[in-house]
This record gives sequence, C-alpha cells and structure tokens, in this order.
Amino acid sequence: MSEEKRLKIAIQKSGRLADMSLQLLEKCGIFLEKSRDQLLCRAQNFPLDIFLVRDDDIPAFLSTDVCQLGILGQNALLEKQALGNGKFNGLKQLLPLGYGKCRLSIAVPHDFTYDSITSLKGKVIATSYKGLLSQYLAKQNIKADIVTMEGAVEVAPRTHLADVICDLVSTGNTLTSNGLAEKDVILHSQAVLATNQIMDLEIKLLADKITSRIKAVLRAENSRYIMLNSPTDSLEAIKAVLPGSQSPTVMPLQGRDDMVAVHAVCEEGVFWDTMEELKANGAKSILVVPIEKMLD
Ligand code: PRP
Ligand code: ZN
Repeated sequence: MSEEKRLKIAIQKSGRLADMSLQLLEKCGIFLEKSRDQLLCRAQNFPLDIFLVRDDDIPAFLSTDVCQLGILGQNALLEKQALGNGKFNGLKQLLPLGYGKCRLSIAVPHDFTYDSITSLKGKVIATSYKGLLSQYLAKQNIKADIVTMEGAVEVAPRTHLADVICDLVSTGNTLTSNGLAEKDVILHSQAVLATNQIMDLEIKLLADKITSRIKAVLRAENSRYIMLNSPTDSLEAIKAVLPGSQSPTVMPLQGRDDMVAVHAVCEEGVFWDTMEELKANGAKSILVVPIEKMLD
C-alpha cells in the first residue's frame, strides 16, 4: 500500500510570527503533536507536516519543494526575490494574513540631516535587506554604499560602521532606544501565506483546502453577528446602517406587529458609533457577537 501523501508547511520557529502562525493553524482545526522544539511537527488530524524554521529560510524550503506552503513575512520573501538570482521567482503570495505588520524603513541618527532620499548619496547604509534596498536606491537613482549585517543593524551608526540604517520597524522602540529617527518607508510588510508551483495534484488539493480554511478563519475574525429588534417602519433605515452586511434575516416578534427581529452577518468592524446610530434609528436590544467559523 502506498503511503499517504502529506502536505508540508514551513512556519517561523521563534520570533514575532511564530505564535500567531501556530494559532492560525489551530484555528483551521489542525491539531499538532506537541513537539515545538523539533524541526518537524506532525498534524494529528490532517495530512500535514509543519516545519519550524527561521523566517529567512522559508523561501528556500519552498523553492526546493521541501515545503509547499509557508507562512512568512512578506519582507523575507520579497528580499530573497530581490536578490535576484531567479531561484525564488516561482514563489507566490497567496494571501496576506493581517498580523506581523511592520515596515522596512530608512532611519538616521539625530545629528544626520535628512531632507529627502538624495541625502543618502555617497553615504554608507547598514541593512539586512540588501536586495530591497538596492532596488529602491536604483529606482531613485541614488548611489550609496551598502553594508550587509545579519542583526543588530541599529548599532551600526553608533559604532561608525555606517551613516544610516535600513531596517524593520514595528513599534519603533528599537529605533528610539538607539537614538535613530525613521525617515522613509521602503516597504510595508505583514505575514503572508506563500506557495511554490505545486505539481502533485493530491498535494495541491490539500494546499487548497488549508488555504480556504485560512481564508474562512480570517473572514470570520473580521466579521460579527448582529441581532437587534427594529421598529417595522424604520427597518429600511436600520438595514442601511448595518456595516458590510448582505441581506439580513428579518423575523416576526411574537405578540408584536410594530417590531421585527433582525439578524445579520457584518463583514466589517461594528463600532460603538454604529451601535449608537442603530439605536438612534429605533433599534432595541442590540447584540453583537463574534463568529467562530464561516464557510460559504
Ligand atoms: C527587527 C528589527 C529591529 C526590531 C524592530 O528585528 O531588526 O531590531 O525588529 O522592532 P520594533 O520597532 O518593535 O522595536 P527582529 O526582532 O525581527 O530580529 P533580528 O533583528 O534579530 O532578526
Ligand atoms: Zn533587529
């Protein structure tokens, strides 16, 4: 008997995407055998193996087809593609995942005069993102020297290794505590689901299944279920206020002919001002509840 085919996904082992990525898989109904210290983790209830690796290594896991899916920072994927030896051209982003948001920015010491990107002409820039930075500078027609560093880029100006840096910024705390100011954003990034060109049809079906589960989880997370009672004569006004909802369900309320119950799925945030507007239109007993799962 031939062995069951298993899809392989690479995610970050530790670091800012790690926990969220594992949680996302769990929300997709994937139960892992607990072994987070190992490189490989098997899913119990889905033909899926999870490789826990460094973010930077995920493009190579995909391009060599060790894994067929990966969750990584867009920055890591685009950087490998920007380095431009063609090895990573076949990789593609399937969907943005909405977490791990950060930006790749130029930051300078406080005594550095920065008017525009042209202030970088002839300067030394330290970065771990040589590919993306070179592309950006070339597009702006700026010639500068790039010093590649694997980490601790933020200390480069203080130690006179470089005049300025180009590094990832998320909260901005690293820059602030190193006396640097963010000037230009080269790239806005977040976690993405990426894939290679999957040839095996069985594996492709498994990858599609995981992808559509992830989409459903993201959609449910952004959606809310609203229930309220509406005066019959202001029903149209109330429907118009419900954010991003398709046709709501309208039901009679027992013993009342002046009020109806309205239930709707809203695929946008439901904020206090929406609730207040509903109330101003006569809505009563407004309930907003999270949605756990959603599949069309
Ligand atoms: C990035 C970046 C900064 C820090 C910025 O490093 O290189 O050091 O995050 O984040 P902040 O704006 O929230 O302070 P990361 O932690 O990803 O690790 P590394 O530099 O060691 O690879
Ligand atoms: Zn860092």
